[in-house]
Parts: sequence; C-alpha cells; structure tokens
Amino acid sequence: MVVASSSITETVDFINANVPQNLQNPRVGIICGSGLSGLASSLKDIVLVPYSAIPGFAQSTVPGHKSSLAFGFIGRTSVPVVAMLGRFHPYEGHPLTSVTYPIRVMARLGVRDVILTNAAGALNPKLKVGTVVVVQDHLALPNLTGLNPLLGPQVNLDRPRFLPLSDAYSVRLRRMAFLASRQLSFDQSALEEGVYAWVGGPTYETPAEGRFLRIAGADVVGMSTVPEVVVAREEGMEVMVLSLVTNAVVIPESYRSIKDEVNAELAGKKIDVAPEQTVSHEEVLSLGVEKGDLIRALVERVVELIEPS
Ligand code: 6GU
Repeated sequence: MVVASSSITETVDFINANVPQNLQNPRVGIICGSGLSGLASSLKDIVLVPYSAIPGFAQSTVPGHKSSLAFGFIGRTSVPVVAMLGRFHPYEGHPLTSVTYPIRVMARLGVRDVILTNAAGALNPKLKVGTVVVVQDHLALPNLTGLNPLLGPQVNLDRPRFLPLSDAYSVRLRRMAFLASRQLSFDQSALEEGVYAWVGGPTYETPAEGRFLRIAGADVVGMSTVPEVVVAREEGMEVMVLSLVTNAVVIPESYRSIKDEVNAELAGKKIDVAPEQTVSHEEVLSLGVEKGDLIRALVERVVELIEPS
C-alpha cells in the first residue's frame, strides 16, 4: 500500500496543531529502541503526542515501548528535536509502509539528521554485552528477497528509483559519535563499529542462522531499524545507528551429538554436556535500562555537535 501524500499532510497538520510553535520544525529526529526511551527524561520543555492520537500512525504493541512522539530540546541546544519513544516493528504485523511512516513525517517536519537506537545480539565474539556499536553498514536479507520498504510506486520522485545504499550510514554523524564518546571520556571499548544484520523476527536466531549471518559478515543482529534507514535515505536525510549489544548470540563450533551420547551411554561411559544458553526479551530490556544513561549522554552530545548552541 502506498501512503497518499495528502495523509502525510494531515499527519503533519495534526502534529503542528498539538505542538507549540517553538518546538516545531525539529532538525534532528531520534528513534528510541527497546528499553531506550529513557531519553525522554533528558528532553526539556517536552511535549508528548501519543501515537494513538496521530492520524496515519500505527499502534505499538511491544512491552517496554512508550508509544509517543516527544518534542523538546536536548542538551544545551536551542534547536528542537523530535523523538519516537518506541517504534513499529514488522514482526508486530505492521506493513513496512507503517513501520517507516514516521520517518516520512519527520522529513516533512524538517528533520535532516536521524539517530536511531536499537538493542541487538552480538554475532562478533569480540563485542561484549553492553558495548554500543556505531553501525557502518547493514545486511538485510528481507531487502534482498522482496521485503524492501521501497517496493511499489516511488514515493519521493526527487530521489533515485534505484537508491544506492553504499553511503547509507553518514560518515559525518559516525565521526560525531566517536568524538562525543571521547569528549565524555568513555572507555575506548564502550563504542565500536560494525555491520548490523536485519532479520524479521519475532523468533531469535537458531545457531545455524547465527552462524550464517556471522559468516556473511555481520557483527550484530536485530529485528528493527533497517526499514527506517532505507526510507530516511530515500527522503534524503543523514542517518546514524547506535546498536546496544544486549546479549551474545551463541554460535557453537559443533553440535551436541545425541548419537555419540547414546552410544557412550550404552558403552557405560558418560559425555559432559554443556548447558544450553538462550536469550530472553527480559534480558534485552534490562540491559537497555542499565545502559540507557550512557546512550542518552552520547545522543545528547552528538546533537550538541550537530547544533552548537
Ligand atoms: Cl540475539 N537477535 C535478534 N534478532 N534481535 C535481538 C537479539 C538477537 N538480541 C537483541 N535483539
């Protein structure tokens, strides 16, 4: 389904009717991932507009997401930002047009730089839990296989039909992330770089799928963000993505062999079996809460670098 431009106009008119003039025309857009909506507490003069009230917006259903657009000032800047507290995911059943609709709205509001955060699992064993990964590239199997958010008639005729994504992740903004990290005296290992694999979810990866994505060159894996990145690029905005590593994706070198275990048992021997390791949404959320302050400080400083007061 293509969202008609008249409905975007309706959305923007509604937002502007509910947001005071000094908070209109945000220059920076922020999207807060799982457990990372605490960013709202660092917005000054905050005005919340619940998704449920906004024409054209879907409803978010994931626990840990706040489901509002927040307008306000961040850090020492006097330039308003707009933040999505909670995003829409394809796995909730939302079509990609709904998932990415807020990005098109942000573009219409005047946003030029988009900062997206998410929770992700580490495929690269060098990435420790709690590390923030500045995404340098993505691997999106859905995009390669016919689930691209830009499928269908072209929405933004000012941009190429065959949008290049070789420059999807802004070097300018990525530099700012590392500058901000140094200015805030973060440990050098707090912020790393890597490739984000987007999978549809809601299931986590099997060991074979995790291994496959790792071999294919991904460092982290998650269920969000890439559709928004693609549409932000189609809208001509610059993009930065921060992925918080909330858990390690365990990729065993070999499988537990039930055949060997049965044969050993019958021969009166015993084989040591490693305990199973699984990931849960609760651990993903709790790490977001734990590291929320760090990401908030980083985003705040990056916005200050974008918009010096
Ligand atoms: Cl392990 N996988 C996926 N797909 N998304 C995640 C995750 C893992 N951890 C946090 N988000």
